Amino acid sequence: MPIAPETFTFESWRHAVRPLLAAGKNADDLLWREHLSTAAADSASVTAQSTPPLDKASIRLPRSLMALLDRLACYRTEDRWELMYRLAWRTLFENSQLLKDPADADVSHAMRMDRAVKRDIHKMHAFVRFREITLVGGVSSFFAWFEPQHEILRKGAIFFAKRFPNMRWTIATPDGAAVWDLSSLRFVDSGTLTERPSADVKEDLWRTYYRSICNVARINPSAMLREMPQLYWRNLPEAAEIGPLLQEGSARFAARHHQADHEHFTRAKSVRRSLAQIVTSPEGVQSCRACEIWQHATQAVEGSGPEVAQLMLVGEQPGDEEDLHGAPFVGPAGKVLDETLRAAGLDRSDLYLTNAVKHFKWEPRGKRRLHKRPSVAEIRACNGWLQSEISNVKPLVIVALGASALLALTGKSCTIEAARAIQMTHAGGARIIATYHPSAILRADEKVRDRLRASLLGDLKRAGSWLKITRGRPTLE
Ligand code: URA
Repeated sequence: MPIAPETFTFESWRHAVRPLLAAGKNADDLLWREHLSTAAADSASVTAQSTPPLDKASIRLPRSLMALLDRLACYRTEDRWELMYRLAWRTLFENSQLLKDPADADVSHAMRMDRAVKRDIHKMHAFVRFREITLVGGVSSFFAWFEPQHEILRKGAIFFAKRFPNMRWTIATPDGAAVWDLSSLRFVDSGTLTERPSADVKEDLWRTYYRSICNVARINPSAMLREMPQLYWRNLPEAAEIGPLLQEGSARFAARHHQADHEHFTRAKSVRRSLAQIVTSPEGVQSCRACEIWQHATQAVEGSGPEVAQLMLVGEQPGDEEDLHGAPFVGPAGKVLDETLRAAGLDRSDLYLTNAVKHFKWEPRGKRRLHKRPSVAEIRACNGWLQSEISNVKPLVIVALGASALLALTGKSCTIEAARAIQMTHAGGARIIATYHPSAILRADEKVRDRLRASLLGDLKRAGSWLKITRGRPTLE
């Protein structure tokens, strides 16, 4: 049974768009509505400029695209269906390799949506908390209330059917409920369910356990909030413990740094300020106010790449195009980086790319927004986000592109020329390789440009070969 019959599901969308794709209807000329039916879809394209039609047998979309579209259909936004159609149409009629172009605006938008959906499914697996109910006849059943960001109930519920096949359980969400009756999984309207059970005794035990395993001295608030975003807290029994635990951790942290030298003290202050800001932020980095840069940026640009990657590249801050697209290194510097990565035999899709500072800092120059270097204080204020990316992605090698990235990674101000000659290691164990930023190549005059380009290429090759050497070894030396 469809969870919300008045809206599309992936299957009904697929059914509706097939004839439109076969007729070559141009994506931009279709009128999209959440409840577009097949008939409406046919008539929606009356004025459409059509590309020469395909026969139905040739509407073969790559499997990877179909899997992506299936996930995008879960993303809670009205324009998902339109974007999905555009991706399908452009893959068929414009560029069969479209998904391989991360700089394309549709692709980068889709990738961001895809990451959000995957993260939401992952969070559902981690944060569903069952309460026991005893049914008539003494049979036990388990009930959980979960509020996902996106429409991921169907995808997320399969995990629980495999994990708890011998329990009767229901996971209810605002979009509908998944019910497992020991043999089959059904999806029903949440309104048909009886009331939610109140807290059970096991929750006190669970909270006590949570308090006892939490090491407040080592708590890393930004990493913790990335793992357990605040929007999930209201349905987590242990969430009531988090505030007091964080306060305790923050007080200990501040006390430890109170007698330290000025450098440490300033850092402690900025970490405490980010901590206060992080704790009150439901959306993580998108609502970061730890420094002033956010005020003039379109959005925070998060890192992009696999959840776990052996190689991480850290730039300085997003540029004009990155700010608009919401993805790192998609502008002119990204082009230089891509060319050099290719020449070094590295595949961008294997790497995790991010920046020391997540918002674009700029000053107006006529109609242009001119990049302005972030200050040391701004790099520090943003550092919690970078460090939490490093602890999640677990790279073996981190390449610092330019002096700001190097400062963010090592806490040291040093020229790239000097840093290239030093062996450096991140506190988490990864090897750090410092090199020139691709923008430095774009800005350099002809005489030095080739030398900088050759250095960047050599350093990226070094990072790649160091990984090859490291692969298979359990730890870093
Ligand atoms: N420069 C950077 O340092 N990062 C980007 O993402 C783009 C340009």
